[in-house]
Amino acid sequence: MTALDDQQLPGFDALLGPTGRPQTEFPKPKQLSSHGPARIISLSNQKGGVGKTTTAINLSAALAEYGRKVLAVDFDPQGALSAGLGVRTHDVPTIYDLMLGTVKNPNEVIVHTAFENLDVIPANIDLSAAEVHLINEVARETILARVLARVADQYDVILIDCQPSLGLLTVNALTAAHGVLIPLECEFFALRGVALLVETIEKVKDRLNPAIELDGILATMYDSRTLHSREVLERVVETFGDTVLETVIGRTVKFPDANVAGAPITSFAPDHSAAEAYRQLARELISRGAAA
Ligand SMILES: Nc1ncnc2c1ncn2[C@@H]1O[C@H](COP(=O)(O)OP(=O)(O)OP(=O)(O)O)[C@@H](O)[C@H]1O
Ligand SMILES: [Mg+2]
Repeated sequence: MTALDDQQLPGFDALLGPTGRPQTEFPKPKQLSSHGPARIISLSNQKGGVGKTTTAINLSAALAEYGRKVLAVDFDPQGALSAGLGVRTHDVPTIYDLMLGTVKNPNEVIVHTAFENLDVIPANIDLSAAEVHLINEVARETILARVLARVADQYDVILIDCQPSLGLLTVNALTAAHGVLIPLECEFFALRGVALLVETIEKVKDRLNPAIELDGILATMYDSRTLHSREVLERVVETFGDTVLETVIGRTVKFPDANVAGAPITSFAPDHSAAEAYRQLARELISRGAAA
């Protein structure tokens, strides 16, 4: 921030959040007395490296901390979500087996993580063959929806971590989901491709899943010290208005560090502001009715 900014806006930043709106204190969620059926949220953006997996890991963990039963579905052949939650991906049944129907019961694939209330369906490189294998399948867009329907009653929230593409797997995720969350990295080309993603969501809504909602756009890797980051966020808010969530995720090396440790930031660095940011995201989504 420049000296001029500091002088121009005395006390202003304290009242307004990074998205330029008054900051809301999202209340601590009430404990749930019963669980399920799950609201399913897909984390999608065909642009790579925008924070989909980081958000899937840490939002799952934050919701689980609030007592929500959470299933995180790794839907990317890279298996980064599984690894980030310390779940092994080799020589285990994965989402690929469920998609192909070689394993019928999702409970045979679900892994309980070391973190309370947080389960994972892992993925590995096998999943990269799914699009080819499923091409002639009847109702191939609704396979994931049918898989998740079998376990939806056991969870409050199911988060799907999509791969960076708009192919058949992402269409499956959007067809299975009640809501979509779009992480956007606060950098120059962030908005590129979002129109295409929104168009894809609209097509899925028209043809496959009329109930799907855009839950919000999440600004990630925001660095308040750079004019660039602030300008990008301003542009994003100008373009998408209130669809942009109030919670903004800052840029910090704690995320890659936590990834290497195979733990969510809420466990790896529970007192760090980045852990609090994902707890705030969980509270914001619960307040908006986008999560239980
Ligand atoms: N807020 C953040 N601050 C700093 N680094 C971050 C932040 N969020 C994510 N990262 C790092 O940026 C990289 C990309 O993030 P991530 O894997 O979450 O993106 P992605 O959208 O899932 O990528 P892909 O499209 O390849 O699946 C990772 O190394 C991650 O640790
Ligand atoms: Mg990812």
